Amino acid sequence: MNAAALRAAMTDLSGRTAIVTGGARGQGEAEVRLLAECGAKVLICDVLEEGAALAEELDQRFLRLDVTAEDGWAEAVALVRDWTGRLDVLVNNAGIINRSLIADTAPEAWRRVLDVNLTGAFLGIRACAPLMTQGGSIINISSNSAFSGHYDPAYTASKWGLRGLTRSAAMEYAGAKIRVNAICPGLIVTKLNAHSPHLQPMIGMTPAARSGTPEEVAQMVLYLASDASAFVTGEDFVIDGGFIAGAGYRRVAVETGIIKEEP
Ligand SMILES: NC(=O)c1ccc[n+]([C@@H]2O[C@H](COP(=O)([O-])OP(=O)(O)OC[C@H]3O[C@@H](n4cnc5c(N)ncnc54)[C@H](O)[C@@H]3O)[C@@H](O)[C@H]2O)c1
Repeated sequence: MNAAALRAAMTDLSGRTAIVTGGARGQGEAEVRLLAECGAKVLICDVLEEGAALAEELDQRFLRLDVTAEDGWAEAVALVRDWTGRLDVLVNNAGIINRSLIADTAPEAWRRVLDVNLTGAFLGIRACAPLMTQGGSIINISSNSAFSGHYDPAYTASKWGLRGLTRSAAMEYAGAKIRVNAICPGLIVTKLNAHSPHLQPMIGMTPAARSGTPEEVAQMVLYLASDASAFVTGEDFVIDGGFIAGAGYRRVAVETGIIKEEP
């Protein structure tokens, strides 16, 4: 493949249609902007009305969708069918967090986190896959917290669940040429966590010594949405500045003087 063909495979989404849930702000907004910049038609789905202004700015479409609502998904699919007649990419990005320990988590709060973060993706895949008649790419936004235990158990369980759903869906839909992958970001500062006391300690423990940006996650979404990843399915893609690679052992190495931390 020559350089021009490679560039096209990686960045040309013209003629394709994508749905991005939670697309009104944060990482979802960055994903919408990049997919649209690369030529895709993008349906922005969110419970936040801000998505309407973004759609207008980018000349795309917005649907007020709660990902936990089955009839909302039917509406999204009908909208895309009428608009472009095809669906190529689904980004299950909508997510919420509930920072409380098991003992302090009410069952309704547990269910809501699982409903939005995990069941929402299940409903999205189930509704959208039949419209991906020419194959497609489904991208589930999990988290690097899906590789260990954490102090926000509902969120952590939902993100581990997404990894399992991703692999199961990859098996089920391979025959339909639909690839299914998960992205597992580390700390990305957005409205989800902007006031969290975790920020500085996490940045301090991250080998890259910074948080990631929504645009960096969007670039990974683009890779998985594009033909450059045509042979990639059923996989997790961690983007976390090296955090889960060994942040704990790195701290031990710093504290014992094996390595020196940059000032
Ligand atoms: N920010 C991080 O550090 C981080 C790290 C790992 C994973 N993630 C995941 O990335 C995804 C995007 O998060 P973000 O950081 O951009 O946060 P964010 O809060 O800025 O964006 C989340 C979006 O999802 C939407 N949303 C929430 N519930 C919804 C529902 N029921 N139906 C439809 N939309 C809904 C919100 O309105 C919002 O626009 C989430 O799944 C989150 O769990 C975030």
